Parts: sequence; C-alpha cells; structure tokens
Amino acid sequence: MDTSIKSGSEEHTVMLGVSIGSVLSPGDVVCLEGELGTGKTVLVKGIARGLGHEGPVTSPTFTIIHTYPDARLCHVDAYRLEGARDLVSVGIDDFLDGGWVCAVEWADRVRPALPERALRVRFSFGPGEDDRVLEVSATGEWDGRLGALLEELTDHGR
Ligand SMILES: Nc1ncnc2c1ncn2[C@@H]1O[C@H](COP(=O)(O)OP(=O)(O)OP(=O)(O)O)[C@@H](O)[C@H]1O
Ligand SMILES: [Mg+2]
Repeated sequence: MDTSIKSGSEEHTVMLGVSIGSVLSPGDVVCLEGELGTGKTVLVKGIARGLGHEGPVTSPTFTIIHTYPDARLCHVDAYRLEGARDLVSVGIDDFLDGGWVCAVEWADRVRPALPERALRVRFSFGPGEDDRVLEVSATGEWDGRLGALLEELTDHGR
C-alpha cells in the first residue's frame, strides 16, 4: 500500500505526524527519507506528540540519537553516518529490541541496520514554498491499524 499526501504548511505536517504517532506501538520503526529541509524533523515533532511527548523536539543532527523517554521514542538522524555499521555502533539495537519506537531520518543511508518491517515516509518539495509531498508506504507485516492510518492520512492530505 502506498499513499501520497500533500502538506501545505509546517503545522499540517506536524498534524500528520500526530496521526502517525497515535497508532505506533513499541518496536515500530519509521524510516524518513527525502532531501534536506523537506520536513522529516517536523514530522517527528508530531510523531512525538502523538506518542505522548510534551515539550520540544530538536534535530539530532549532531548527536545522532535523541530519546524521549516519556514517549518511548528514539529519534535518529543518520545524515552524518557512513553506513549501517555506524548506526549499530551508536547502540541502535538497544532501542530496536528494547520496546522503543524508532524514527530514523536519512534511513536510506543505514537501511541494513534496521528491520525489514517499517513504515516509510518519503518527502519531496511541492510547487509552493510550503508545499511538501509525503509518500507513505509500509514494508513487512502490519495489522489493521496501518490501513486505518493511511485512510486517515489521505483525508488529512486532501
Ligand atoms: N509543509 C511543510 N512541512 C514541513 N516543513 C515545512 C513545510 N513548509 C515549510 N516547512 C519548513 O521546512 C523546514 C523543514 O525542516 P526540517 O528540519 O523538518 O527538515 P528535514 O527534512 O528534517 O531536514 P534535514 O535533512 O536537514 O534534517 C522547516 O523550516 C519548516 O518550517
Ligand atoms: Mg531533520
């Protein structure tokens, strides 16, 4: 299943993230892909909120991993990593196996270190300055909550 959603503002993307966060369970992985400045971190702000995090979410560009224990969310930015081995070195397996939701920016750089089963969001720029397109798809086995989520996102993206 592959759904294409349009976002017209930063707030809109946060809202899409809240919807995604609301259906995620411990152990789920969200792979975020797309050029610099397309909105991956903005979406994670919403995901964190949907998982129950209150407070700011900042880009883990320099620290690689930020954790939000109140939401049991691990937020990774793989931009500065050379490859999958680097992600293992910074301890990703503790989170993947430890009942955290992991949201990984630039996941395409480190895919072999991540499980096959993942929700994938690929971002691109739209025609206007604040327009973005989010292509949401999933790999591996998911239960009914994914279909419901995609339907909800499609409604929000109209
Ligand atoms: N529709 C939109 N959705 C998300 N962000 C938007 C939108 N319109 C404008 N923006 C702006 O685009 C920028 C997105 O920045 P963000 O840090 O989320 O990108 P990123 O994909 O995480 O980049 P990086 O690869 O550098 O981590 C923000 O400055 C935000 O205000
Ligand atoms: Mg980012």
